[in-house]
Amino acid sequence: MTALLEIRDLVVTYRLGFGRTLRAVSGVSLQLDQGRTLALIGESGSGKSTVARAVCGLGPVESGSITIAGTDVTAAPDRAVAAGKIGVQIVFQDPTTALDPRWPIWRSVAEPRGRLFPPSPDRHRARAVALLERVGLDAAMADRRASQLSGGQRQRVTIARALSAEPRLIILDEAVSALDVSVRNEVLALLDDLKREAGLTYLLISHDMGAVIQIATDVAVMYLGQIVEQGPAQQVIGAPAHPYTQALLRAVPSLEGLAMPARMRLTGEIGDPARPPSGCRFHPRCPSANAHCAREIPIARPYQGRSVACHRVEELA
Ligand SMILES: Nc1ncnc2c1ncn2[C@@H]1O[C@H](COP(=O)(O)OP(=O)(O)OP(=O)(O)O)[C@@H](O)[C@H]1O
Ligand code: SF4
Ligand SMILES: [Mg+2]
Repeated sequence: MTALLEIRDLVVTYRLGFGRTLRAVSGVSLQLDQGRTLALIGESGSGKSTVARAVCGLGPVESGSITIAGTDVTAAPDRAVAAGKIGVQIVFQDPTTALDPRWPIWRSVAEPRGRLFPPSPDRHRARAVALLERVGLDAAMADRRASQLSGGQRQRVTIARALSAEPRLIILDEAVSALDVSVRNEVLALLDDLKREAGLTYLLISHDMGAVIQIATDVAVMYLGQIVEQGPAQQVIGAPAHPYTQALLRAVPSLEGLAMPARMRLTGEIGDPARPPSGCRFHPRCPSANAHCAREIPIARPYQGRSVACHRVEELA
């Protein structure tokens, strides 16, 4: 299988002013194969959205490469345009920002396609209406404004809008997080159907482990700008190996029956990415940390069907 998205050694640093910088992503490598759904999980501030914005060209890249369908977009003069043309779309948590309140919703749906392909307004409207129907909305809604729709309907409109650009890869950055559970489940089921019908691939960013369990095929766990564990969802969620993944999943009530050591409880705060801890970045919070952990940076290596960056993963099993 060839990777649709391959990220190698991505580094992203934000400039904070007065000469201060913050390295939000420190050497992230990820591979996402065609037709899969990779969930990127981790606490707030771990750098998930920064990775997402780098992939679609909306945020900075300091070094490393991002290859989409064989093209390295980091070299493109306008990375957002290059990513859009190759077929990357992003859906955010708040649908209102993506939808112009003055426009009828069909126009918001048609807009990305109008930017990427030659104009032909009549066909754009007809296509937009067909897309609204495809995401489960009535064609009669095409002339309404975003404010006349419910939150779930608005998120369906932003999904139709992403589809209008004929994407291959859709990044869902907390796209279902604001919806209540039943609407969320419907939208996730819709996304999974669309994936099969349109041959899509998803990068799913979510705090909501229910959403991850429902649609992810693969999981990557981020801590302070680095990936600590990644592999098939069955392995990473079913039998987490990295102490951080274990602690993160232990906090999820629906996963209470999971096989993992009882000592793991996530305490303390995620550190400051501007001043990350030495050695393993998780060591100040890890109950299994020793002096070696505080000194040496753990390198990711294969462990039981996934990759794990922890010095002690074998002995802790
Ligand atoms: N534009 C920016 N300028 C400066 N710092 C930023 C910027 N965007 C994000 N950061 C910082 O970079 C780090 C990673 O942020 P990011 O938004 O990528 O995390 P996240 O994992 O998506 O968090 P959340 O789950 O809260 O959305 C954080 O410390 C954040 O404060
Ligand atoms: S390397 Fe050490 S501190 Fe880091 S997760 Fe593994 S045991 Fe904990
Ligand atoms: Mg985010």
